[in-house]
Amino acid sequence: MKNASNTARDSFGSSFGVLVALAGSAVGLGNLWRFPYLVGQNGGAAFIIIYLAFVLLIGIPILLAEFIIGRRSQASARAAFQALAPGGHWGIAGVLAVLCCTLILSFYSVVGGWGVEYLVKAFRFDFSSMDNESLKNLFSAFSTSTWRPLLYHTVFLGMTAGIVIGGVKNGIEKFSKVMMPLLFLIMIGIAIRSLTLPGAEAGVDYLFKPDWSKVTSGTFLAALGQAFFSLSLGSGMVITYGSYVKKDANIVSLGTQTAVADTVFALIAGCAIMPAVFAFGISPGEGPGLVFITLPHIFSQLPLGGVIAILFFFALLLAALTSAISVLEVIVAFCMEEFKIKRGLAVSLVFLVIWALGCLCSLSQGVLADWKVLGKNIFDLFDYLSANVLMLIGGLVVVVFVGWKLGRKQMRDELTNGGTLRLPNWFIDTLLFLLRFLAPAAILIIAIFQVSE
Ligand code: TRP
Repeated sequence: MKNASNTARDSFGSSFGVLVALAGSAVGLGNLWRFPYLVGQNGGAAFIIIYLAFVLLIGIPILLAEFIIGRRSQASARAAFQALAPGGHWGIAGVLAVLCCTLILSFYSVVGGWGVEYLVKAFRFDFSSMDNESLKNLFSAFSTSTWRPLLYHTVFLGMTAGIVIGGVKNGIEKFSKVMMPLLFLIMIGIAIRSLTLPGAEAGVDYLFKPDWSKVTSGTFLAALGQAFFSLSLGSGMVITYGSYVKKDANIVSLGTQTAVADTVFALIAGCAIMPAVFAFGISPGEGPGLVFITLPHIFSQLPLGGVIAILFFFALLLAALTSAISVLEVIVAFCMEEFKIKRGLAVSLVFLVIWALGCLCSLSQGVLADWKVLGKNIFDLFDYLSANVLMLIGGLVVVVFVGWKLGRKQMRDELTNGGTLRLPNWFIDTLLFLLRFLAPAAILIIAIFQVSE
């Protein structure tokens, strides 16, 4: 396969490095913030079971399809499609993916900034004397104010850019190798603390005993949307990271391990949060404020809660950073290859654009709340367009491209590294079926539901 650019490409050093970088991208605010509150809003265990089924039947196949595109082409989002299907218009999907990442990073960096602010508050033991009402007021006063969120958005995006400027092996891989195991240990520690609280069993039941009467069509939509978001699908991330993976790596096992790691982290986050929520008699359906309001409230009442608050918000920041660097890398890799510019320049230019868009997102919580498009403020609009529109389109193009355009032979060739790895036929056949039929059908159904809402 011809390399899409003539400059020497950076690559990951070890397969452990690839795994932690991919898992780092997947494990993020989606696991620590979005997953727990969706579980809370959608009735607990039943949602989790549906979510797991979607990860297995749709998430992993799309992840592998993106891996095939990236590793086979060794190119960034747009050029990857172009290299595998020269002369076609598939590259447009790559451009949409880059746009998608631009929108995601703009609001992700704002929420990451909230995380930084709350870490600072945790260090000052600010939560220790606050009740739920004052924590609610604290959060809304902070997130709707003008300057502090902008400052912290800048800090968060600055850290993200600082890592990505170091490149794939020396920036992204190095950072993830140290931080992902640390994140894992912290979350396990918090989960153990939460599970040993008096009254924690109700939370465990809620997480693991399904109540099917709570399931509606909305549950399925939320679960599939979450699978896409949490596995970072449909947005060029796996294509871009896959393009840095060596030709002798086993991408089937890397892809599966990534999905398993992401799911394990989501479940650990559930175990860290839900038992404590129940032990303190709080309703699990608090929504997006769960992490910034409910949890500090719980920390304020827990023995050693001040320390746990510091650990939790530190973990949140780490998880958000390893994801944000992957989103930024998609855009940076695109700019480097399309415009033939150096990494430092690409990171600086992209930083400026995202910083400005992020400022709009942040201000749309307060002074710009009246700027509405399609009835949504800028923050919600970016969230909606990326997670509900562009990622679905991206996912659809990827499954059709690999399932129908590349087809069985190329798929098998890439997954087995040209025949050197063994893969049973049933695996390839099942994967092909899922990519050709089940995944596109599921994506289309979701899209139709969304339009008719
Ligand atoms: N998966 C990340 C999370 O759960 C978010 C994320 C990282 C992402 N890269 C992405 C989402 C690319 C969409 C597209 O927080």
